[in-house]
Amino acid sequence: MDTIKVNNYDEMSKKCAEKVFEKISSSNRVVLGLPTGGTPEKMYDYLAEMLNENGADLSNVYTVNLDEYVGLSGEHIASYRNYMNTVFFDKVTIPKENTNVPNGLAEDLKKEASAYDQLIEDLGGIDLMVMGIGRNGHIAFNEPGTSFTEGTHVTDLTEDTIEANSRYFDAYEDVPKQALTMGLHTMMKSEAIILLASGEGKKDAVEKMINGEVTEELPASILQKHENVTVIADEDAL
Ligand code: PGA
Repeated sequence: MDTIKVNNYDEMSKKCAEKVFEKISSSNRVVLGLPTGGTPEKMYDYLAEMLNENGADLSNVYTVNLDEYVGLSGEHIASYRNYMNTVFFDKVTIPKENTNVPNGLAEDLKKEASAYDQLIEDLGGIDLMVMGIGRNGHIAFNEPGTSFTEGTHVTDLTEDTIEANSRYFDAYEDVPKQALTMGLHTMMKSEAIILLASGEGKKDAVEKMINGEVTEELPASILQKHENVTVIADEDAL
């Protein structure tokens, strides 16, 4: 695991955007795994700016998002499809049909989950995946205790995650209790991974991810077993 220590959130965002931009610019075709949440917001700002300033051709860029809430339509303001459209896709020239977010309204969620893994396979796998980390060490919505061998699946969110994400909803009760999430097995198949962390709230999880035991109790610790992981974190998170 390589660690890049930066001074603050802004530097973390810029550094990551540069790396994603480089990957897009140097590839004829690229499949990106993309996160939502507070952490990557400014990275998307920088990335959109870099892509637009350089007139980057995004017709061969494909994206697969990490997760989506169960029960929210893509039009719901707090859905991850809406987040991605607002924060990134609508600001750049990527064809919408190249972008993928799990369907939280699928009637058969199990089927949607396995179809999502199949979609990733059909795309040829993920070349570069960006992700954040939860205070409890989750990556995507793989909460503590999730098997390392799981593919995309439906998961119950922990109280800690519901509480952390309630800031995006009018009321705590409005936060969905379940999500569709890419599984750890799926995520580990990505060729390269960038994990972003900013702020003191992530410090404990980051420390355990880098130096702790590899355990399903700290899902991010599985990244110790991946050969191409770069952690970009600010001082407060390290
Ligand atoms: P955050 O979430 O970026 O909103 O802190 C990260 C995560 O839970 O993975």
